[in-house]
Amino acid sequence: MEAQRLVPFLLLICIGGTDCHLVTKLMIRMTGRSVRFEADNLHVAYYYVLYNVSAEGDLLVFNTSQPGGSHPKAGRVSFHGFPDNFFELTETTLSDSGEYRLEGRLCDSIAFQRNYTLIVCPDARINILQTPLNRSVQLCGADSKGESMTTIQLYRLGGDSPDMLILDTTTSMEQLPEDLRGRLQVDPNSSSVTLHGVTEDDYYQAYECVTFQSGQCQSSKLHLLDCERFTLYPRQNTRLTLPCNIKPTSPHQVYWTTPSGNVTLSPEDSSQAPPSDSQQEEKMYMLNGSQTGDYSLIIPSVKQHGKYICNHKKRLVEYEISMCWQFKSTTATFSNNETVKLDCGLNYEVQWFRQRGADTEELILDSENKTVLLPEDLSGRVDTSSLVSLVIANPRAEDSGVYTCRVKLPNSESFKPALCLEHQFRLHYEDPYGIHSLSSEEEQSADGAVPDDLEKDEHNSI
Ligand SMILES: *[C@@H]1O[C@H](CO)[C@@H](O)[C@H](O)[C@H]1NC(C)=O
Ligand SMILES: *[C@@H]1O[C@H](CO)[C@@H](O)[C@H](O)[C@H]1NC(C)=O
Ligand SMILES: *[C@@H]1O[C@H](CO)[C@@H](O)[C@H](O)[C@H]1NC(C)=O
Ligand SMILES: *[C@@H]1O[C@H](CO)[C@@H](O)[C@H](O)[C@H]1NC(C)=O
Ligand SMILES: *[C@@H]1O[C@H](CO)[C@@H](O)[C@H](O)[C@H]1NC(C)=O
Ligand SMILES: *[C@@H]1O[C@H](CO)[C@@H](O)[C@H](O)[C@H]1NC(C)=O
Ligand SMILES: *[C@@H]1O[C@H](CO)[C@@H](O)[C@H](O)[C@H]1NC(C)=O
Ligand SMILES: *[C@@H]1O[C@H](CO)[C@@H](O)[C@H](O)[C@H]1NC(C)=O
Ligand SMILES: *[C@@H]1O[C@H](CO)[C@@H](O)[C@H](O)[C@H]1NC(C)=O
Repeated sequence: MEAQRLVPFLLLICIGGTDCHLVTKLMIRMTGRSVRFEADNLHVAYYYVLYNVSAEGDLLVFNTSQPGGSHPKAGRVSFHGFPDNFFELTETTLSDSGEYRLEGRLCDSIAFQRNYTLIVCPDARINILQTPLNRSVQLCGADSKGESMTTIQLYRLGGDSPDMLILDTTTSMEQLPEDLRGRLQVDPNSSSVTLHGVTEDDYYQAYECVTFQSGQCQSSKLHLLDCERFTLYPRQNTRLTLPCNIKPTSPHQVYWTTPSGNVTLSPEDSSQAPPSDSQQEEKMYMLNGSQTGDYSLIIPSVKQHGKYICNHKKRLVEYEISMCWQFKSTTATFSNNETVKLDCGLNYEVQWFRQRGADTEELILDSENKTVLLPEDLSGRVDTSSLVSLVIANPRAEDSGVYTCRVKLPNSESFKPALCLEHQFRLHYEDPYGIHSLSSEEEQSADGAVPDDLEKDEHNSI
């Protein structure tokens, strides 16, 4: 163990392979990885042999003069000849740890010799770490003993490229990939490596960190996960699009989990087109984002509350859908000089919406968001001190429209989204001289924008 600890530093003295006596090269690998025992090509050798040096003596692992030797490890060992000249041991296991000796031979004489110490580290379970963009994250060194002389190796795993050793404190960091330059901070004292400024690309990478200290090998695997959460309060039976954008160059296994089961891109679904026959019209489907990255879920008619999650190996987008139920619908008429009072009937977190004519619905008041400003045409005519009712002074014909109060009541079960209730008012102007007045029935059939699923309809004259 004493020798092993010194090795990484002695190694630097051995340059060119001309005289490397008493130098053992330390190699640290994770289980399952492959390792190379490199010969040199400065010395002429007829053949090469690799020995496993154990207390019981030398064990021949591979003799290039007799390929496919009898040793049980032979199937995992291969020799790559000139100009590379190395033995490769694949799928390393913990029991492969030990001393090895590589010899280049000329007939019965040894042309050169090189000793290796192989440490195979136990594999680590992958840890998932949720990290928002731009943050710093520690890739290595969660539980360091604070001793000096620590070897740190950092691998970048998978993604679109093969596993790659990106940092090794026994060598220089020259081969650090472009996107990591200036972002990795190494502290050998605490054997920690910190990645600064997490980018979107980092979510598509995993990291494996191997630390070797006092003969002890530790490893950890980490992949960063971006998890976004949203709570939405759609109106029941309305169309809803839940956005989910995954970087198009990353592996594309994306699917949705919903309260009514999984939604996947089934091969029979034509891409980006809703199912055609009328029976399927209500069925939700996801977009094929293999070109665009857009894997949004389209819900033609939202009926079920609960969690809708866009799943990708590296990214989760979670939508908590809490349906907004219309508990009351009221029709009211008004004429000039009458103050209009729309009584919501519930008071908690209150929002008021207005929809006039063909305009889209606008949020006009929000008890939780003071930056929502009353539209100019209403300012000075509406008292905003209490939102339990909407009181419009000096109403005008242009005030006609659909007014909705939406109330979010806390759910008795904690962590559940709020209960959302709506009271809708259809406000009609009635000309006091009866010239332009419309009956409410005519108004309904003329105005297609008014939802037709009214359960309780009251007609009030204010
Ligand atoms: C390799 O180790 C052996 C002992 O196992 C030693 O005799 C030999 O000198 C070492 N060779 C080198 C090049 O360090
Ligand atoms: C390697 O194999 C060749 C051919 O079978 C044999 O002559 C030689 O002695 C072997 N060398 C060692 C070191 O085992
Ligand atoms: C080396 O020898 C040791 C002890 O005999 C054994 O446990 C280990 O599996 C061997 N490794 C290889 C690669 O042959
Ligand atoms: C991340 O930082 C960059 C540069 O400092 C900045 O332009 C960007 O808006 C930040 N992004 C987020 C999500 O904070
Ligand atoms: C590492 O430890 C040594 C000795 O304790 C100290 O001198 C040095 O400043 C430390 N380096 C860092 C980066 O903390
Ligand atoms: C949904 O799909 C994922 C991935 O294909 C699968 O692991 C999971 O078991 C599925 N769940 C259900 C309820 O079918
Ligand atoms: C998604 O679109 C790609 C090309 O845009 C196509 O190759 C693939 O088959 C589509 N997948 C499904 C399930 O429709
Ligand atoms: C509104 O009230 C004013 C003064 O009280 C009156 O002059 C006007 O005629 C009224 N308008 C209507 C339409 O009743
Ligand atoms: C508050 O309202 C403003 C303006 O409508 C909007 O931009 C903002 O996102 C709202 N904030 C919250 C927390 O909903």
